[in-house]
Amino acid sequence: MRTYTELSPSPRTIMTPGPVEVDPRVLRALSYPILGQFDPEFTAYMNDTMEMLRSVFQTNNRWAFPVDGTSRAGLEAVLTSLIEPGDKVLIPIFGRFGHLLTEIAVRCGAEVTTLQAEWGTVFDQEEIVSAIKREKPDLVAVVHGETSTGRVQPLDRIGPACREAGALLVVDAVATIGGVPVKTDEWCLDAVVGGTQKCLSVPSGMAPITFNERAERKILSRKRVERGIRPPGYEEPEGLGAPIQSNYLDLAQLMDYWSPTRLNHHTEMTSMLYGLREGLRIVLQEGLDNRFDRHRLNESALIAGLEAMGLALYGDPSCKMTVVTCVTIPEGVDGESVRTMLLDLFGIEIASSFGPLKGKIWRIGTMGYSCSRKNVLHLLGAFEAVLLRHGAEIKAGAALQAALDVYEGK
Ligand SMILES: Cc1ncc(COP(=O)(O)O)c(C=O)c1O
Repeated sequence: MRTYTELSPSPRTIMTPGPVEVDPRVLRALSYPILGQFDPEFTAYMNDTMEMLRSVFQTNNRWAFPVDGTSRAGLEAVLTSLIEPGDKVLIPIFGRFGHLLTEIAVRCGAEVTTLQAEWGTVFDQEEIVSAIKREKPDLVAVVHGETSTGRVQPLDRIGPACREAGALLVVDAVATIGGVPVKTDEWCLDAVVGGTQKCLSVPSGMAPITFNERAERKILSRKRVERGIRPPGYEEPEGLGAPIQSNYLDLAQLMDYWSPTRLNHHTEMTSMLYGLREGLRIVLQEGLDNRFDRHRLNESALIAGLEAMGLALYGDPSCKMTVVTCVTIPEGVDGESVRTMLLDLFGIEIASSFGPLKGKIWRIGTMGYSCSRKNVLHLLGAFEAVLLRHGAEIKAGAALQAALDVYEGK
């Protein structure tokens, strides 16, 4: 009989836009004993998680909980629950994940209009506001931090425009939550989807979401209770909207599960919930502002180092995402070979990109637990060595000094 070796994943320095390294405290939390999903000890952990998510999303929304599944499950849950077939949906696209929103909205039966911005840039908010006035959509869906291009879309004027036009605004903050400010209430965002495996530094497998009463009204107008768990005498209200297509990702049912009703839906992912709760505790112990400052400081040191080497950063710097830095691969250098050597010899992982940017840029993440001085310095030293090994024309010896200057406040 074939035998298999014991699991022993190598320790890595993960400098990608996710998944990133996980705080040992979260790893410990993942190994705790299982509790039943209706055990009061466990439901208290669920409530703590909701409370901490409200702080991280900067919202007073009642609804803030994780959807079980990766971030894409969070996006699908929100979009399937909010979009009825035939609804008009507007999606500004400036990278791969705007296309993902479109793909999901089309599958929900939406009549989708897209706006396109050149990859490496974002939209002037006024352009989106004018499109909202022109198209009169029922829903607008937009990415906040586009990891494929490393750009961040300002949102503060889009939310109020949606309110005025009676549209719901859904935001993919998968890559920004916990690393840069996501001001759900101040920016008038109706539903926001976060990710665990990026700036929250929890493994992939849950998608924290929040939504307000405007979104809740739409969801409840479509609410169906599963036949097998209807209480005796239950009668379906008249005049409901189209049923939510997904059962697993049905926010109306998830709301019953995440409220004191605790109406059974799926079996909650016990260990992931422990991990997320611990990850959120770490975020709040550090403090949101300190955390955002830490991400900015390490970004500055990384950029200083890369530029001192003579590398060119990709994309419009005025909308650069703090937590993702994109580097143009120098002419004649094999980007994949550089990534392989970094991983094999230094244990460092950086990312390539997708679609039109495949083979053109590297993407370096500085997210969550991976966003540290040690990691930035380790990466810069290794990157310089590997690039020299690949014959790249870079300035040797300057990168680490430039980064150290940033850390020393020079
Ligand atoms: C901006 C953005 N949205 C959505 C996703 C999809 O997340 P997941 O792979 O966790 O489903 C990602 C993942 O990289 C992302 O970066």
